[in-house]
Amino acid sequence: MSVIKVNNTDKLEFDRALEELRGYFAMLSEGKGRPLTYSLMTYGCQLNEADSEKLAGMLSEMGLEKSSQSGELAPADVVVMNTCSVRENADKHLFGNLGVYKSFCKSGETSVIAVCGCMMKVPENVEKIRKSYPYVNLIFDPQQIHRFPILLLEALKKRKRSVSISGDDYIAEDSYFPIERERRFRALVPIMYGCNNFCTYCIVPYARGRERSRSFGEIMKELETLASQGYREVMLLGQNVNSYGKGNDDGKTFADILDEASKITEFSRIRFMSSHPKDLSDRVIDLMGERPNIEKHLHLALQSGSDEVLKRMNRPYTAEGYMKIADNFRAKVKGGSLTTDIIVGFPGETEEDFVKTLEICERAAFDACFTFQYSIRPGTKAATFPDQIPADVVTERFGRLTDLTNSLTEASCNRLVGQTKEILIEGISKAGGGVYSGRTITNHLVNFTIPDEIKNKEGFCEDALEGRLCDVNIQYSRPYSVDGVMERFTDGK
Ligand code: SAM
Ligand code: SF4
Ligand code: F3S
Repeated sequence: MSVIKVNNTDKLEFDRALEELRGYFAMLSEGKGRPLTYSLMTYGCQLNEADSEKLAGMLSEMGLEKSSQSGELAPADVVVMNTCSVRENADKHLFGNLGVYKSFCKSGETSVIAVCGCMMKVPENVEKIRKSYPYVNLIFDPQQIHRFPILLLEALKKRKRSVSISGDDYIAEDSYFPIERERRFRALVPIMYGCNNFCTYCIVPYARGRERSRSFGEIMKELETLASQGYREVMLLGQNVNSYGKGNDDGKTFADILDEASKITEFSRIRFMSSHPKDLSDRVIDLMGERPNIEKHLHLALQSGSDEVLKRMNRPYTAEGYMKIADNFRAKVKGGSLTTDIIVGFPGETEEDFVKTLEICERAAFDACFTFQYSIRPGTKAATFPDQIPADVVTERFGRLTDLTNSLTEASCNRLVGQTKEILIEGISKAGGGVYSGRTITNHLVNFTIPDEIKNKEGFCEDALEGRLCDVNIQYSRPYSVDGVMERFTDGK
């Protein structure tokens, strides 16, 4: 397996394929007497979402319109499923949805189905689609997203299914792609791809290949462009952003990215995901404390509070080591929020191990926890461990853990009540009814109303709220969010 940087020749071929597809779909559209549509389903993490923004950009360049039908299973002329394989239920979800599309293909509502993403790196999944879902036209893995138009064109020309699974790890800069961003104010910016950590339970290193970092200069150029385009929040992405730069020869680290990015004053929020405790540097925490536009939120996966379990997970830190980082974060980033991932029921986890996890959750006073029941991922080391935990024990422990973590999240929300916090507005709340939503710099979700005296002021425009900053007085707390009333805009507009 090798890492291959895509070059200008690849880009020429990419652009030519996009152009040819544009012609092809225009012809189909004429035949149907209406614009052609696409539907894109994203099953995975934020890196998967970032890939989908690129896929959406390419689909638009092909002349396709996003299907106006809402819901996951909207019929569309071209359907792309961007899969995730991190846990078993993600796999089940795809196969369930693929089954539903059979009828859309039969009725002619759907002409093309492409399946990509992490599940396609697992040979059994590809085999299952080959055998049981003959109406899928194209299968490709996440490393080949930069070849999507080329592969799609090939499949359509050959008029038969195309399967392209590469043994190489490619790296393409974001400038290679047309990108259609999901949100007007937030840009997802992957800074690295793949993972070298091989935690024994995890499929990601197999699905996403070896760790490789984008060029520092290209990232900075992209950030400057995003700022000038009006983006107010950037989310720097990688499976382990703290090991950014290893393998590049300019010596730049993740802290250097944060340092430079935070000098771009147009950005109100610089967020990042994910950090691994083994690589998190003190300089990153110092910068989080010092720079006003770096979020005061650290997501740092703990996975387990037992050193024995951590060892078997191949997570090279101890519970005490984790607590040292947590304490340093709490001391340097005042009022910051600390969130984590925890797996329950890892092979060999004893009741004593599990109790240690509960204890450390309380000590760390996590502001939110993403809790998962261990899911066997075929091909990973832990799948071969002999002492898998019975399902009923896992369920029982999971219930105890979520009771605790829910109460920690509630307490974290409660602490905000009575305070005025600056919010970056994300839009109209899902709850509707004149309620808006946004996030604090600590990533707490805030639903709020806007008093009439603000709404009635000249220049107020509901459609232009996304990405604006305002102060909200927090008055009420819910289990996972808080409610409040807006006091004023704070961005001077
Ligand atoms: N790279 C990130 C890190 O190490 O912090 C994690 C990324 S992973 C996509 C997100 C989370 O999924 C992990 O932190 C872990 O808690 C969970 N996860 C991964 N594999 C799992 C498995 N086999 N069963 C249950 N949860 C799993
Ligand atoms: Fe998976 Fe571990 Fe890599 Fe995170 S660091 S993606 S959990 S192997
Ligand atoms: Fe899933 Fe792949 Fe992300 S397995 S969690 S989509 S890296």
